[in-house]
Amino acid sequence: MTGTRGYGYTDTLDAEHYTKAIRADIHGGLTSTPKSTAPTWFYDARGSELFEEITQLPEYPLWRAELGLLRLHARDVAARTAARSLVELGSGSSTKTKLIIEALGPTGLNYVPVDVSADALHQASAQLVQDYPGIRLHALRTDFTAPLVLPELPEDGPRLIAFLGSTLGNFRRPARGPFLRGLRDIMRPGDFLLIGADLVKDEQEMIAAYDDTQGVTAEFNKNLLCVLNRELNADFDLDVFDHVAVWNSRESHIEMRLRSRAEQLVKIRELDLAVHFERGEEWITERSAKFTTEGLAEEIIGAGLRTQELWADSDAGFALILATAE
Ligand code: AVJ
Repeated sequence: MTGTRGYGYTDTLDAEHYTKAIRADIHGGLTSTPKSTAPTWFYDARGSELFEEITQLPEYPLWRAELGLLRLHARDVAARTAARSLVELGSGSSTKTKLIIEALGPTGLNYVPVDVSADALHQASAQLVQDYPGIRLHALRTDFTAPLVLPELPEDGPRLIAFLGSTLGNFRRPARGPFLRGLRDIMRPGDFLLIGADLVKDEQEMIAAYDDTQGVTAEFNKNLLCVLNRELNADFDLDVFDHVAVWNSRESHIEMRLRSRAEQLVKIRELDLAVHFERGEEWITERSAKFTTEGLAEEIIGAGLRTQELWADSDAGFALILATAE
């Protein structure tokens, strides 16, 4: 169903699903110790916009590093995979995907951008069908808490699933295995998975990427409070929280946190909940894993996939891995 938009659109996050999911996560996350919630809720229209700004920050080199690697290797990806369907997880603005789309040949290509943000999906899709009139685009709005169900794709040729931007790092280590196996399960023999992964590097550099001098990441982090105020009728005061970025070496991830500047009680009316914060208490709002190439290769094998290529930018500390299902 393409309709007048020029592209298909499936929304698995109807209002009811979204409401249930955000309520459950925020209730569970703010009543546990330490407080910890999913990064999913950052991405309303403003949050997606702020993330786009983050990608342009000098302190956030991962986005540019991946773009550089794709400029160098999109043609290799196309030659290796000969894919006629491209599924992109966490597609956002789809900027980098254009390199892969052009390498694969846009005409007749099935492109399935998958994202939690309806605004980002519509904006990117409208632009892409304009740029590539021959593309067959079907956008899918979903989150990654449930197994991925793809829209029907013609059975012609190999599929490539792209999971770029190191978004895989939003899963903690124990959750990545089942997630990758879930992807493996929807892949057929000869299908491919392309993963972009930010690598462990100098601690100060990693922290700076999540604590920029212009305060864009701080605004992105605090936008979560706006989302909760709006969606759950809460009364978070943005001025009573500080943005914090910490390197957790044991888990090999950056943690974004919100630190309460004072002891306070915050009402979340939709949850019938009053959340108590100690002065200085820190609430983990995002985990962003940093990988080693060896560790990631192992995780890929563990999921029943085989690594075919690994392209790394060792200066920037970023890698692209192309794996296949056998
Ligand atoms: C979109 C999850 C890859 O973890 O680097 C950027 C999100 N958070 N700055 C990341 C993010 C703060 C980003 N991912």
